[in-house]
Amino acid sequence: MKKFLRWTTRIVGTLLAVLVLVLAGAYGVTEARMRRTYDVPVAAPRVVMNAQQITEGRRLAVTRGCTDCHGDNMAGNTVINQFPLGRISGSNLTRGKGGVGGRYQDADYVRAIREGVSADGRPLLLMPSNEFNGMSDEEVAAIIAYLRTVPPVDHEQDGNALWPLGRALMAGGVLPLLSAEVIDHAAPRAAAPAPAVTVEYGRHIAQGCTGCHGKTLVGGAVTGAPADWATPANLTPHADGLGAWSEDDFIHALRTGRRPDGTELRAPMPWKATSQMTDTEIRALWQYLKTIPALPDGSPRDP
Ligand code: HEC
Ligand code: HEC
Repeated sequence: MKKFLRWTTRIVGTLLAVLVLVLAGAYGVTEARMRRTYDVPVAAPRVVMNAQQITEGRRLAVTRGCTDCHGDNMAGNTVINQFPLGRISGSNLTRGKGGVGGRYQDADYVRAIREGVSADGRPLLLMPSNEFNGMSDEEVAAIIAYLRTVPPVDHEQDGNALWPLGRALMAGGVLPLLSAEVIDHAAPRAAAPAPAVTVEYGRHIAQGCTGCHGKTLVGGAVTGAPADWATPANLTPHADGLGAWSEDDFIHALRTGRRPDGTELRAPMPWKATSQMTDTEIRALWQYLKTIPALPDGSPRDP
């Protein structure tokens, strides 16, 4: 019995030592990646601040998902707060206490939104700029105009922190938290497609669906997602996906949050946001979704 105990203690001790080493390694690697600075020169777009630009900016902030993480009042939401994963909040973007509104210049917003890099060159955690990288100058300008007009809200947040599981998942490449790492910051900027019911414009908008539905839009579970989230659906033209849907079914679902059979789309499907999309945007999305490869459920989300 004594011998057995001695061995068990040894094995457990060794395993713990290995775990500590792995976690220390993961901590070192992720810390270096988060502390790297990115020097990304950007040009500020034309922010004219007229009523039309501000209204459009408000609509874009909702339909492109900014409000999901930064809050309806843009003062910041807690996105993840789950031990042992981490605590991450969308920043307070207003001019209130704890907000960046007072110090962010137009170019800083562009760098944060399209490149995932903060005003001081740090890669932003969880900010999905890979989805926003293709935004046009007009779209970014409208969002900036809107952000400049939101009422200041005092909201000082606890700093973001990545805990052991978050560190391990990030180090292992399972949880992509730094969009700045995957964006090609030097790539020449292609002209964004004009708003029209075209496949190109649909692809442009669909970038905002990929965070949940995956790059292939086949859906499936999101790594690190809260336990109460529904699994994102298959949006490809497969029988498992939207194969049997009509354009009207699609428009109806994005506007009312109801499937053709009347069931409701559960959280986090942001149908209250997509309900504010224009007809042109929704119909362009549909045109695009009809052209992507039809994939059965369980196919890779992000090959
Ligand atoms: C999935 C959640 C998420 C979405 C969607 C999102 N953000 Fe963020 N954003 C974050 C987080 C988290 C941070 C803070 C990251 C950090 O400090 O490392 C951030 C940081 C920022 C910053 C930099 C602020 C600072 O603290 O320096 C700006 C500006 C910003 N976001 C604007 C936007 C805009 C505009 C949109 C919509 C087009 C948007 N974000 C959508 C999560 C999100
Ligand atoms: C924050 C995550 C998230 C984002 C962003 C998102 N979705 Fe979803 N979506 C979901 C989830 C989760 C479901 C499944 C809901 C359910 O099962 O009740 C879903 C379901 C759907 C459905 C219903 C499909 C079916 O067969 O039931 C459609 C259509 C849809 N999404 C379209 C879109 C489009 C288009 C976009 C981009 C404009 C988008 N979604 C963005 C999470 C998201």
